[in-house]
Order: sequence, then structure tokens, then C-alpha cells
Amino acid sequence: SNAKMHLADGGVQEIEVADGESIMRAAVREGVPGIEGECGGEMSCATCHVYLPSPWKEKIRGASDDERDLLEADEDATEDSRLSCQVRMRPEIDGVELTVVNAE
Ligand code: FES
Repeated sequence: SNAKMHLADGGVQEIEVADGESIMRAAVREGVPGIEGECGGEMSCATCHVYLPSPWKEKIRGASDDERDLLEADEDATEDSRLSCQVRMRPEIDGVELTVVNAE
């Protein structure tokens, strides 16, 4: 499967993501700028912040309370915000388009 990552510089980087793999892991492996994944997916760093807009966001499970709490601490957060370590590839979101949110 693949995901298209919209970057801070306006470019788009397409990455390969295995089913069941988190977007963060795939993005780190492929060197997507702005996705650090510092905590390894433990929901404590928010360096994997992305915007996941409609219609994609409705196709997968929403953010847990812990994820929402961490995102709310980020001033760039919107209702489309997700931690990409918590978003796993599924056939339903093959081709998903995400925007990388750079941590300050
Ligand atoms: Fe740290 Fe997602 S990788 S919160």
C-alpha cells in the first residue's frame, strides 16, 4: 500500500506502507522530513504529528483519549490531527494523503 506525505516545503513524498504497519514507522524508514518518531510510537513525543483529512479520517478508528491529550498540547493541532504512530495502514486507506506537521 502507499501513502502520500505532503511536506512542509510543498513537495509530496509517496511512501510504501505495509498493511498493519504504522505510518510513522514507514515514514521514518523512508526518511520523510518532519516525521521523527522519537519515542518509537509510545505516544509521548508527538514528533509524528500529521493532518489526516476527510474522507480518510472517517475510514479508520479515531484517536484514543491518550492520543487526543497529547495532540491538544500541540498548538498546531486541528480536528484533523493524528499521531502517525497510531495510524496503521489498512486496505481502506490505501493511497491516503497526509500532511506532515513539523514540531517546533
Ligand atoms: Fe512519539 Fe508518535 S512516535 S507520539
